[in-house]
Amino acid sequence: MELKGRDFLKLIDYTPEEIGYLIDLAAEYKAKKKAGIAHNDFQGKNIALIFEKTSTRTRCSFEVAAHDLGIMTTYLDPAASQIGKKESIADTARVLSGIYDGIEYRGFGQEIVEELAKYSSVPVWNGLTNEFHPTQILADFLTIKEQFGHLEGINFVYMGDARYNMGNSLMVGCAKMGLNFTACAPEKYFPDKALIELCEGYAKESGATLRFETDPKKAVENADVIYTDVWVSMGEPVEVWEERINELSPYQVNSALIEVAGENAVFMHCLPAYHDLKTGVGREMGERFGRDSMEVTDEVFESERSIVFMEAENRMHTIKAVIAATI
Ligand code: CP
Ligand code: NVA
Repeated sequence: MELKGRDFLKLIDYTPEEIGYLIDLAAEYKAKKKAGIAHNDFQGKNIALIFEKTSTRTRCSFEVAAHDLGIMTTYLDPAASQIGKKESIADTARVLSGIYDGIEYRGFGQEIVEELAKYSSVPVWNGLTNEFHPTQILADFLTIKEQFGHLEGINFVYMGDARYNMGNSLMVGCAKMGLNFTACAPEKYFPDKALIELCEGYAKESGATLRFETDPKKAVENADVIYTDVWVSMGEPVEVWEERINELSPYQVNSALIEVAGENAVFMHCLPAYHDLKTGVGREMGERFGRDSMEVTDEVFESERSIVFMEAENRMHTIKAVIAATI
């Protein structure tokens, strides 16, 4: 599989075979890492990591993955770069292309990372935009494969705001890779119609099904995976919390809901998660709205069904595969 020089901006740009290859390559790198086999085959390369939004998993994954591959990194934080403030995206892309062998970008609109890639002569990797979070889906699918042995035919249910980066990317990934995707939320939180239509085309090819459901109990019947994400994403105004809590509370992943799912159903979340009051935002909103958790209860998050930390670890192995395959 030849992916050298390719950008990784959204799963729409990759075939099911290419996505499958990246997941398998990640599994190989994971096995090597666990066995203590060095794989620093990319010595002398350098990559830039641009973060216009904060991060724990994605930043750490890029840094450790690069280090394991023998690659040096430069981290540009939300305040440190000139991007978009004193220097255009196009100019930044051409400057960094001359210095680096690859560029990771996390920020706001998808059009920004697309513009960066257009003007860059080295691969650009999307580390999250408002619309898509493609490296997260590779980690999620590696985790599902490890758990169930396959992706095709898995009943995958996404609870909550399905019109943002996670809902969109998971729908594309499921449609391409043959998982049966259900989004469950009030209708206004369903993905964009044009994206649904595109995914219906992929689903025809892969044998996946797409379903949009407003009733949480109906949605999770026979589910293998129940997935959720925060109700308010990075970059959204704090004022939307009240509306989200009112509208999405019935879609919280709790024990009563998970009991309706299959006996072997697992809980997944891209993280970070508001499952208790041990975070600044969680505590503030919890106290304000009289809740002890948001999108998932602490009970489910800490239960045996929860595979969120396996999933988080797989961010590193899958990001390593993306860098190694494309650089
Ligand atoms: N899941 C994820 O992207 O986490 P970070 O925001 O911590 O990178
Ligand atoms: N929807 C979340 C995902 C975080 C990984 C956000 O954009 O904040």
